[in-house]
Amino acid sequence: MKVITSIAELQHALGSFDKEQIALVPTMGCLHEGHVSLMRKAKRLADIVVVSIYVNPLQFGENEDLDTYPRPFDDDVLLCQDEGVDFIFHPENLYPHGAPQVTLHVDDLSQHLCGSSRQGHFDGMLTVVNILFNIVRPHLAVFGEKDFQQLSIIQRMVADLHMPIEIIGADIVREHDGLAKSSRNRYLNDVERTQAKEIVAALHIMQDAAEQGCDIQGILSAGKAHVTQQKINLDYLEVCDEHSLQPITALSDKVTARIFIAAFIGTTRLIDNKPLFAKKTEETSCV
Ligand code: PAJ
Repeated sequence: MKVITSIAELQHALGSFDKEQIALVPTMGCLHEGHVSLMRKAKRLADIVVVSIYVNPLQFGENEDLDTYPRPFDDDVLLCQDEGVDFIFHPENLYPHGAPQVTLHVDDLSQHLCGSSRQGHFDGMLTVVNILFNIVRPHLAVFGEKDFQQLSIIQRMVADLHMPIEIIGADIVREHDGLAKSSRNRYLNDVERTQAKEIVAALHIMQDAAEQGCDIQGILSAGKAHVTQQKINLDYLEVCDEHSLQPITALSDKVTARIFIAAFIGTTRLIDNKPLFAKKTEETSCV
């Protein structure tokens, strides 16, 4: 495995692969089993796996954790080595000309969920993913469903801009108690870690409510009641159409519904999502 910081050096190294399929796994480092699952998927689908590690300033808001974001680079290198990654791309700065004058912008898909609470986040994310695609020129790239809205927006960018890259989604990897693995779980103290598992508990309660035949209002009330009881500070809890990412008011066979949650545990903001399946028979309202 090679660790490369220079764009020219990476392109030179990748240029020697003519017929091989190249996969890119973009990350911000502080790698965990969630990232590992993406690397393994990439390895199954391609000949050469490039993992990029870059904490992208453009996708962090003013009061967010850009400066404190964990950067355990040596551990990340060992983990990638164990997984048989071919190249780590670890650039120092992807904006050598200063703040970019030209960026990408996503419309409706970013209006709800994380897009409304993190202004500019998805434009910054898309811009860096586009830069990474231009540098690496992968045949495919793997992203986790943990960041479902991010994955949807990237799929739409590739479709709208006719980018010749296949986008592969990967399931959410969770801790034993169901908490979605996240680099930000490191910020949690013991008390907060115990509280954090109630985020996914709320999603399970909502799935159960749907299976029992509750309507959307009943499902949302059940989830919100649990979150309130656990004294969790909610950013959002919504049921959306997983294609349009717009909130839905009723479950039906015509929409694929998904629950999305973002919550603060102390000062740490965590996100999660789960599919929502309606009861097969008529919906009934429940309280
Ligand atoms: P980061 O948060 O490091 O995540 C990198 C990739 O790992 C994303 O595709 C994310 O969805 C996936 N991932 C994180 N936790 C996961 C889990 N528990 N299960 C499965 N996949 C998981 O997402 C970013 O970085 C950045 O926005 C990036 C795309 C690199 C652009 O800067």
